[in-house]
Amino acid sequence: MRHFTSVNDVKDLDGFVQKALALKKSPFAHKHLGENRTLGLLFFNSSLRTRMSTQKAAANLGMNTMVMNVTQDSWQIEIEDGVVMDGGKAEHIREAAAVLGQYCDILGVRSFPALRDRKTDYGEKIIKAFIQHSGVPIISLESATLHPLQSFADLVTISEFKKSPKPKVVLSWAPHINALPQAVSNSFSQWMTHADVDFSIVQPKGFELSDQFTKGAKIYYDQEEAFEGADFVYVKNWSSYKNYGEVGNYPKWMIDQSKLANTNQARVMHCLPVRRNVVIADEVLDSKSAIVIHQAANRVFSAQAVLKEMLENL
Ligand code: CP
Repeated sequence: MRHFTSVNDVKDLDGFVQKALALKKSPFAHKHLGENRTLGLLFFNSSLRTRMSTQKAAANLGMNTMVMNVTQDSWQIEIEDGVVMDGGKAEHIREAAAVLGQYCDILGVRSFPALRDRKTDYGEKIIKAFIQHSGVPIISLESATLHPLQSFADLVTISEFKKSPKPKVVLSWAPHINALPQAVSNSFSQWMTHADVDFSIVQPKGFELSDQFTKGAKIYYDQEEAFEGADFVYVKNWSSYKNYGEVGNYPKWMIDQSKLANTNQARVMHCLPVRRNVVIADEVLDSKSAIVIHQAANRVFSAQAVLKEMLENL
């Protein structure tokens, strides 16, 4: 593994899940692997889980970590090539990435989409520029279109809670007040269609994800029909891919207990943060069905498995 930006960077998915679970059992077993190695974490956007879990994963492996909130702490970074830089942006990504590559052995980058222009967002300029110019392995901490560390943790969580070899997993659209990226949902779909699960997606018409990430998934437009017999219901809002960035006003798609009645006592998942009683009702989040904290805990071991693999290949 040179970079980690999608499921395609993982050769053996089941083996990788087992590696994360082994690290969960013995988090400090490879404490010397990261000695004298530095991880740089760059955030163009806010984070709680990704920031703290990746730092903890690095600490478990004995690495140093440096964290920077790019938009607040550093120079504003120009992304476009060939521009006359006579505006507010003082540093080009070509130099910024190359310099950070001198200080760090591995870099993690978080950069959300602007949700104004689909072609620009799906072009993934920032993560690609870091891969091109830093000279070190790059980990996506959530890009414009994918969130692989989250999806890996989700797959680890499903493997821990599944009651049958091939569980039924349903990704359900849910309401939100803001336009959110498709990254978590694209990524979850991409990982589930590569994993040994029976995978479906349910959303209102017009909220279909890009088919580059959903090949092999069953598609529904009715939650009751989709949830029948489900072992896992993964809840997430995403803005429209088709009418790019449209929010959608479907408050009845919120997940409450009544929605789970015909599932196979489904476990409810969400990447967090979650807006209570908008996306998921209190009665679900506060019940034993919800495994969202378990998911968040597994973010440490998914990140640790990725870092370990990269450190072993430096
Ligand atoms: N799920 C997730 O990535 O959380 P943060 O945005 O807090 O990092």
